[in-house]
Amino acid sequence: MSAGLNPQLETLLDATERAMRPHPRPLSYEERGEDKKERGEDKKERGDNGANIRVGVDLGTAYTVLMVLDEHFQPVAGAYRFAQVVRDGLVVDFIGAIDLLKELKRGVERQLGFELTHAATGFPPGVPRAEVRATANVLRAAGLECTNVVDEPTAANAVLQIRDGAVVDVGGGTTGVAILRDGQVVYTADEATGGTHFSLVIAGALDIPFEQAEELKTDPREQARLFPLVEPVMEKVGTIVARHIARYPVNEIYMVGGASMYPGMGQVVERITGIKTIVPPRPLFITPLGIAMNDKYSNQ
Ligand SMILES: Nc1ncnc2c1ncn2[C@@H]1O[C@H](COP(=O)(O)OP(=O)(O)OP(=O)(O)O)[C@@H](O)[C@H]1O
Ligand SMILES: [Mg+2]
Repeated sequence: MSAGLNPQLETLLDATERAMRPHPRPLSYEERGEDKKERGEDKKERGDNGANIRVGVDLGTAYTVLMVLDEHFQPVAGAYRFAQVVRDGLVVDFIGAIDLLKELKRGVERQLGFELTHAATGFPPGVPRAEVRATANVLRAAGLECTNVVDEPTAANAVLQIRDGAVVDVGGGTTGVAILRDGQVVYTADEATGGTHFSLVIAGALDIPFEQAEELKTDPREQARLFPLVEPVMEKVGTIVARHIARYPVNEIYMVGGASMYPGMGQVVERITGIKTIVPPRPLFITPLGIAMNDKYSNQ
């Protein structure tokens, strides 16, 4: 399914996966205290370190991601954690989002040995301006100057560099659709169906808690068995995509976002839309990577 992507992009996405560290749980009180000491030392080490880095923050419905690139746009470090601080682009737990971002930032600073001071962030298409400002405020409150806010499909396309076609971002909460013509986003839409719905369907069918369903769903050994349960949700995603692209001459659909990782997702969307559908090898980190590429920090 990764036909059509240039090999350089595959190398970049592999490097991204290697740079990313899952951040599985909140730091304990003791760890936080320890961390502060380390941060004092980090500050002393600062200097030109990190002068030309680019940083991206993606506050998603399911995963919050912090990604750091060097001046050549190569990923050097990053961290992510499952957290429900944002719902469909709206910050629903402001304090939780700030605390989580501070933790991810501290973890990445420890990996890198210098402090992060700036970042870009993203928003799903159609989110009101006030909500976009709230997202930028989370960055500021976590100690990051917000240099840019970019809509997520534009961010994803900074990585994919599609000239004509559609980018579909199936995250936790929503399916975002962007149509590109001559490399420009000409249409966007965002609808409330995403990976969370896959988990809810599994939880309902197997009569298990959401968290357990989420674990089963992302376990490669379980995904074939669970496919019949989630296929109707995939078909719904396909129907959403088909409806939004109907008025545009789209020949190729590129799928990003964590829910696109479910095996078979590309085939179902291709069947429903009748359009060639490509799932790049590491769809989860494409939007965060593109957000980081849009960090407009200048130290001039
Ligand atoms: N291997 C996997 N197979 C299937 N689904 C997966 C896999 N890994 C992650 N997911 C799902 O991907 C979703 C998260 O994707 P992503 O990080 O793109 O969303 P988000 O940006 O947090 O949400 P949104 O964009 O809707 O705000 C979750 O529902 C998660 O369960
Ligand atoms: Mg997302």
